[in-house]
Amino acid sequence: MNKYVLILISLLLSLSSISQNMIYDRLDIDQKVDSVLNLMTLDEKIGQMTQAERGALENQTDIAYYSLGSLLSGGGSAPASNTQQGWANMYDDYQTIALQSRLSIPLIYGVDAVHGHNNVYGAVIFPHNIGQGCTWNPELIKTANQIVAKEVAATGIDWTFSPCIAVPQNERWGRTYEGFGETAEIQKIMSGASVEGLQTSDLSSPETILACAKHFVGDGGTTNGVDQGNTVVTEDILRELHMAGYVDAIDMGVGTVMASYNSWNGQKLHGHDYLLNDVLKDELGFEGFVISDWKGVDQVHESYREAVKRSINAGIDMVMVPDRYIYFISILKSLVESNEVSEERIDDAVRRILKQKFLLNLFEEPFTDNSLASSFGSDEHRNIAKQTVRESLVLLNAKNDVLPLQKNNQKILVAGKLATDLGSQCGGWTISWQGSTGNITEGTNILNGIENIAGTSEIIYSENGDNNEDADVAIVVIGENPYTEGEGDRTSLNISQEQVNLVKKVKEKGIPVIVLLVSGRPMIIGEVLPYSDAFMPLWLPGTEGDGIAEVLFGDYLPKGKLTHSWPKEMAQIPISFGDENYNPLFDYKHGLQLFPTAVNSEELLPYAAVTDIQGNAIYLSLTDYITDLDYSSN
Ligand code: GLC
Repeated sequence: MNKYVLILISLLLSLSSISQNMIYDRLDIDQKVDSVLNLMTLDEKIGQMTQAERGALENQTDIAYYSLGSLLSGGGSAPASNTQQGWANMYDDYQTIALQSRLSIPLIYGVDAVHGHNNVYGAVIFPHNIGQGCTWNPELIKTANQIVAKEVAATGIDWTFSPCIAVPQNERWGRTYEGFGETAEIQKIMSGASVEGLQTSDLSSPETILACAKHFVGDGGTTNGVDQGNTVVTEDILRELHMAGYVDAIDMGVGTVMASYNSWNGQKLHGHDYLLNDVLKDELGFEGFVISDWKGVDQVHESYREAVKRSINAGIDMVMVPDRYIYFISILKSLVESNEVSEERIDDAVRRILKQKFLLNLFEEPFTDNSLASSFGSDEHRNIAKQTVRESLVLLNAKNDVLPLQKNNQKILVAGKLATDLGSQCGGWTISWQGSTGNITEGTNILNGIENIAGTSEIIYSENGDNNEDADVAIVVIGENPYTEGEGDRTSLNISQEQVNLVKKVKEKGIPVIVLLVSGRPMIIGEVLPYSDAFMPLWLPGTEGDGIAEVLFGDYLPKGKLTHSWPKEMAQIPISFGDENYNPLFDYKHGLQLFPTAVNSEELLPYAAVTDIQGNAIYLSLTDYITDLDYSSN
């Protein structure tokens, strides 16, 4: 709006009896944005485009002095009191400083709440996205995200860097578990639902937070699954496979998109003018703002000044610097003063940022809504997480009648370190950036869940399966310890020899063995399958381990279906549904929907891997029969 309208409004305000608020409220969002933008100096505009990590602040007063647009907590960057109240106090303290800036523009605070408010002790931790995808239940995932939004909002935080809608093609990639699955199909089903759960249709509601579809675009398609690597595909594949979910997220009004670290055919996404400006903003009509990834701008060019210039001109609106924010501000200012970055580009970026702040109602309600505190970590929230766990579990195969387990009159041996390791059950991005083993937060581990549901059945735990007591059946928990991002890149996904030996040892007791896999991706399980009478990937189920026991003991039927093709061996990876000569161990969408018994085996859907009455494997998979010699030995 031009300054003459502004003068008119201010004249009206001084003369009219109408309250400022009534005039103000009648302004639409864009007019409100312009009314603030027109008052801002170049320094204040550049400040709004700057996001600093809380721990990098040289002085907290820098928030006001530079009119910083945003702060973030990187993974694990928590206040001294890592509780809901501790975070709310921290947020309000930062916001109080932000409002001391000349124009009192509120800051927007971002965190990676990628499977719950996962930095905060006591928050409900949901299954990571690979498990959420296997539910094939967008309504449930929308509800799960509504709960995540409430728990994040209860700490004052306004913005989560989620959903990650990567479409991982190569399970060597350490971030495989952050995506919903290997196809555009599952990405589309889950991305809109996730955004709707976080933002609903009214961002001004105190229970909603700003979402961030990430990482645009092609993060899951890098060669050999190398994190932050190069995605070498045609534009058609990039659009059809990796970009499809962004259309749904934008249709759902996603407020931010995070640029990806990867390159597309050799050019870094953070500096990709065509993909960010022409495709994302112009063609797809994205009206929110593009946030860079952590130092993602730095990777665009060896000269930081050139990197900033290319990234901002390519369409990055806010830069997650996140440490040298004063230097960044000086660089961008010099670029504007030398006309290498135009004032129009700056104004466009700041408009986009301010618009989301107005939509969040931050100018009116900048502080924590303490009425949400009571629901943080509540049983009601945990019950939804439990349902998500139940529906995420995939029963790959089971011999007749070994499941469900009996709550009464059964002696059940539980073996494996991961049966009691809540940290591994949650995976990366939990309490700390990389996650960690052990009792890292409040929750129920796998063994606890089994003990909670058992009636008169005796539960015997033996980490290395050395117990000498007889048991009727055994559960052996194997899999991976936590990792995040590139730290999780692997060249081999074989089950460790130690864990293969454990499964074999327990099988030698001559009892049925149920193998549970805690992992962020399909692993190579050929060596343990012959010793397993049932095999169930749990993915990274989070804090609500009761959900696992509720399926194992038959309170609920297995329901999950694979969103990744399950490879037979490393040489098959990458393998995706639709490939020529498609021949995985288990198909995309495989998952038994009931417990095989001697009676119902004949009626099982035609891709079950079960056994006939004599216990011989029946392979009805849609793919080639599994070579019987490999897996039939018991
Ligand atoms: C990380 C991740 C990104 C995350 C950001 C902030 O490097 O790539 O997914 O949102 O930094 O923690």
